[in-house]
Amino acid sequence: MKLDHHLFVCTNQKSGVGDDVAHALKKELKKQHLKSVVADGEKYKNRVQTCNCLDLCKHCKKGSGAAVVVYPEGIFYGDVKPGDAADIVHDHLGEGQVVKRLLLD
Ligand code: FES
Repeated sequence: MKLDHHLFVCTNQKSGVGDDVAHALKKELKKQHLKSVVADGEKYKNRVQTCNCLDLCKHCKKGSGAAVVVYPEGIFYGDVKPGDAADIVHDHLGEGQVVKRLLLD
């Protein structure tokens, strides 16, 4: 089943990694043709949005990556780096499988 997804990326780090992650996710959505998807006659959109602190700072501000939450599932990823964007887009948005190595409890 396809769903509209909305990804929020924390950009509350001094390093700016959150902005880089958001940019990489948007780039991968285009590259993997998953920005909008037509399935069973319905159009679905995947969006990436930057935001402030997601209250997961241990896996964000204090780490080397950014915190990301994916809705509607409410899946939280931590320490996400730009190089992880391809897996999040392909596995989670494309295949419906969480990226276990980035998953937070
Ligand atoms: S600074 Fe990113 S979750 Fe708090």
